[in-house]
Amino acid sequence: MRTYAVHASVVRNLRDARRGDYRMTDISTAAGNALRDAVCSICGRHGDDPAALLEILHELQDEWGCVEDDAVPMLADALNLSRAEVHGVVSFYHDFRTSPAGRVTVKMCRAEACQSMGALKLIEDICTRMGVPLGGNGDDARVTIEPVYCLGNCALAPAALIDGRPMGRADIDKLENAIAEAAA
Ligand code: FES
Repeated sequence: MRTYAVHASVVRNLRDARRGDYRMTDISTAAGNALRDAVCSICGRHGDDPAALLEILHELQDEWGCVEDDAVPMLADALNLSRAEVHGVVSFYHDFRTSPAGRVTVKMCRAEACQSMGALKLIEDICTRMGVPLGGNGDDARVTIEPVYCLGNCALAPAALIDGRPMGRADIDKLENAIAEAAA
């Protein structure tokens, strides 16, 4: 079973999170109960093993669309971890979302090779064009634009993935057309 390495930055996040304030989860709602059922079921499949936290978070996001804030204390309870530990891992890894993604997910590479080909400006431009913040959804939940760090397509920088489909030599018009096509 894969164990998760506690990277130095995660430890820093944990320290920061421990100073934070966590709201209690309201499990009296149907949605709260459904979320708790999902968390318990996934954790149970992993033997409630805290070393499986990353796999559990990925499975929860696959099933639930995101790792929402209310899941953090539930995961902590189930895995006998502190809320700060769970929160630190969720906030450290860019793969985890705390709200559901839009109908189209665009991953924009901002690693070195793509940066050297203008990726940062391109990311800014496509977020402006779509009217969404980087990493978040617009009001209509049509598209989510997420930063990633190397898509393995450096030779065709700047690189992007639109709903899992790779795009090389991305530019603003190609991105806009691909998003419109994926949303149709
Ligand atoms: S640096 Fe962007 S794909 Fe590798």
